[in-house]
Amino acid sequence: MKNWVEWHAAYDDPSSGLTRRLAHVRRRVLTALRQAPSGEIRLISMCAGQGLDVFGALAEFDRAADVVGRLVELDPANVAAARAQAVPGIEVVEGDASVTSAYYPADVVLACGVFGNVPDEDVHRTVSLLPMLCREGATVVWTRHHEAPDLTPTIRKWFAEAGFEELGFDTEPGYWYSVGTHRLVGKPLPFEDRKMFEFLGQPFDGRRSPKS
Ligand SMILES: C[S@@+](CC[C@H](N)C(=O)[O-])C[C@H]1O[C@@H](n2cnc3c(N)ncnc32)[C@H](O)[C@@H]1O
Repeated sequence: MKNWVEWHAAYDDPSSGLTRRLAHVRRRVLTALRQAPSGEIRLISMCAGQGLDVFGALAEFDRAADVVGRLVELDPANVAAARAQAVPGIEVVEGDASVTSAYYPADVVLACGVFGNVPDEDVHRTVSLLPMLCREGATVVWTRHHEAPDLTPTIRKWFAEAGFEELGFDTEPGYWYSVGTHRLVGKPLPFEDRKMFEFLGQPFDGRRSPKS
């Protein structure tokens, strides 16, 4: 089993792919927050780790007090690290992120560091079920490496089939990461209690050096 606390150490290196990916995720989350109508904004993050993406975006958001959020993470040490940064309105739940019942429908949904760690068919199921976790017009920010075999073209197709339009797809030459941003244009799905994925924690190592 991978040590998911150590995994976060790559965020301390400004040149790592993970740090560069984080900048895109924060920017996409912040943009989604800024575009939200006035009033309460709901945010959820699955397999949230230490929540660096959410807390980084919120630190720059002038309506942070409007955000009600739930980060779901299994590793107690990562939960503690996330709670240490927590801001009012944001709860960090120690629990299983793989089931729809862990969440409420939200305006901003993060699935970062998930799709590279679950079987392809579970990525498909999760994307198909995401409209249950979305309020109307919600934005989903997700990540996946694009090492061969590159699943990202298929994931983008699955998002389209699930009723999302693509707002962005961020990659960088020489780096392994991709950040997808999709907005739900179809209707949210009625909520059902469903298992979305089995988190395997393999095979990709986020600390790998960028590819040449
Ligand atoms: C690749 S990391 C991503 C962390 C964070 N989203 C990020 O991008 O920085 C995956 C995280 O998922 C957590 N995790 C693994 N299985 C989980 C599960 N079933 N429910 C909740 N969290 C889980 C791990 O502890 C780890 O912190």
